[in-house]
Amino acid sequence: MISAYDFAKAFIALAIFFTGAFAEDGFMQVLTPKQNHLQTELTLNVVLEIDKKRVDIIKIMTPLEEIEIDMKSQKNTECKNIQLRLGENRVDIRAYKENVLVAQENRDVYVSSELYHQFRYPPQEYSHTYFHNKDNEKLCAKCHDMSVNEVSGVAFEDITKSNCYGCHKSINKEKYAHAPSANWLCTSCHIQSKKGVSKYLTKEPINASCFECHEENKELWGNAKYRHEPLDSGHCEKCHNPHSGPYIMFIRKDVNLICLGCHKDKHIKAQQSKNSACSGTSEGGLCIECHTPHASNQPFFLKKRFERVVK
Ligand code: HEC
Ligand code: HEC
Ligand code: HEC
Ligand code: HEC
Ligand code: HEC
Ligand code: HEC
Ligand code: HEC
Repeated sequence: MISAYDFAKAFIALAIFFTGAFAEDGFMQVLTPKQNHLQTELTLNVVLEIDKKRVDIIKIMTPLEEIEIDMKSQKNTECKNIQLRLGENRVDIRAYKENVLVAQENRDVYVSSELYHQFRYPPQEYSHTYFHNKDNEKLCAKCHDMSVNEVSGVAFEDITKSNCYGCHKSINKEKYAHAPSANWLCTSCHIQSKKGVSKYLTKEPINASCFECHEENKELWGNAKYRHEPLDSGHCEKCHNPHSGPYIMFIRKDVNLICLGCHKDKHIKAQQSKNSACSGTSEGGLCIECHTPHASNQPFFLKKRFERVVK
């Protein structure tokens, strides 16, 4: 026998099931980002399609900010560029009608970094997905010009005229910006292609692009006897943010900390060893006073010859 109680329970479950499904299609839909998106930049676009008749306020909550959007404008698409922190970020998006919560969606996004042990290995569920494919671009093309309008090698006089600027403006907002990125010559590294998972993939590894412009370095380092592993494997982006950053030459951490990001143990060991001249500290002496980050004819990428001292 099905009791009235069970029947009521089943009915409520069914009602929740339907309204749940309804909320997704009817009130609000998240066009980007995808759930469990993995990236390295600290900015992200959130784009929502909203039924204006049934929603009057949207709130986007992240670990760093709380954004409230009042649905006064005509368009039913809301676009926001948000800031993230390293590691896990929950983007919690809520839709309200007359102060009642009518729909809620979460997106978990992970920002990884090679230079922090705790953020080097993202949890398994996260994966990088690309945005610039035909289907995604179609969602935006009604209102945004999705074509490339840069002339190779010619900086924009007014960078806001770049078709990429509107959606990616915060990528160059840090104090030290790299010339080709700051001038919005994005396709000098993000080579355009109709094939592949995205219109804008980079050469893998990236140093081939870097050396197209930094030819002198290519020669200098290529001919050196000792080359630093991350450089030799072509991954300039492990240390330099190709776009912009808060530290000189857009390196990803302050100059001493960048070395210690990968060499904490080894460096301490070197310092402690009886006959080592390695004397940099995380507080004082700069690593790059003695070592070059790239390549050298001296072992350990030293800038000059050091005498081993017995302490
Ligand atoms: C119905 C028209 C419309 C559609 C569709 C649309 N946008 Fe927008 N978007 C705009 C307008 C208008 C602006 C500038 C004014 C503003 O900030 O609201 C804008 C601004 C933006 C911004 C900058 C927001 C900020 O915080 O400065 C981003 C990022 C963006 N759009 C991304 C997208 C993406 C990605 C898509 C497709 C998935 C998309 N938009 C689809 C109309 C649209
Ligand atoms: C309508 C908004 C919009 C415009 C215009 C736009 N992008 Fe994007 N782009 C996005 C979104 C959304 C992502 C996903 C990452 C994010 O949210 O920041 C993205 C990601 C990327 C990526 C990472 C690879 C990928 O496919 O996910 C590159 C590179 C990129 N854009 C380059 C460009 C360049 C170059 C231009 C100008 C020619 C441009 N974008 C114009 C919205 C836009
Ligand atoms: C000097 C080369 C270079 C230039 C110029 C450049 N990029 Fe990039 N970009 C890269 C590399 C390399 C990566 C991959 C970074 C990584 O793995 O950390 C990247 C990654 C990205 C991503 C994805 C970031 C993520 O978190 O997954 C976006 C978005 C992007 N670039 C947009 C742009 C835009 C927009 C411009 C123009 C303003 C631009 N880039 C100019 C080299 C460049
Ligand atoms: C389209 C040409 C171009 C490409 C590609 C390019 N760069 Fe640059 N880069 C420049 C220009 C121009 C400057 C500013 C002039 C200068 O100082 O050499 C610059 C400056 C720099 C600087 C600062 C130099 C200084 O003395 O202040 C660094 C570091 C750098 N680039 C690294 C890279 C890395 C890493 C890549 C690849 C991810 C790369 N560049 C790709 C053109 C380019
Ligand atoms: C291990 C980290 C690291 C890697 C990998 C790395 N760089 Fe650098 N780079 C630095 C640091 C730190 C500085 C600042 C050095 C200084 O101030 O003396 C720098 C400075 C530079 C400069 C300006 C000074 C100079 O020596 O010309 C250029 C250009 C440059 N890097 C390009 C590149 C390119 C291109 C690659 C990849 C082929 C690369 N870097 C890989 C850490 C790195
Ligand atoms: C992205 C990670 C990374 C960064 C950042 C980095 N290194 Fe390295 N470094 C390596 C790897 C990988 C090796 C090769 C394996 C090893 O010897 O540990 C290496 C090797 C070395 C060696 C040679 C060690 C040996 O026993 O032969 C020295 C010296 C060194 N790095 C100094 C530095 C200095 C100084 C900096 C900062 C300017 C720096 N590294 C930044 C990854 C890094
Ligand atoms: C006063 C110069 C000086 C400074 C500053 C310095 N080093 Fe060294 N470092 C050396 C010398 C010399 C060696 C070679 C030691 C030897 O011959 O045993 C060395 C060796 C190393 C090695 C290789 C150790 C091994 O045994 O494999 C690493 C890694 C290293 N240094 C990292 C760093 C880092 C990271 C910093 C900054 C925090 C730094 N060094 C600052 C002079 C210096």
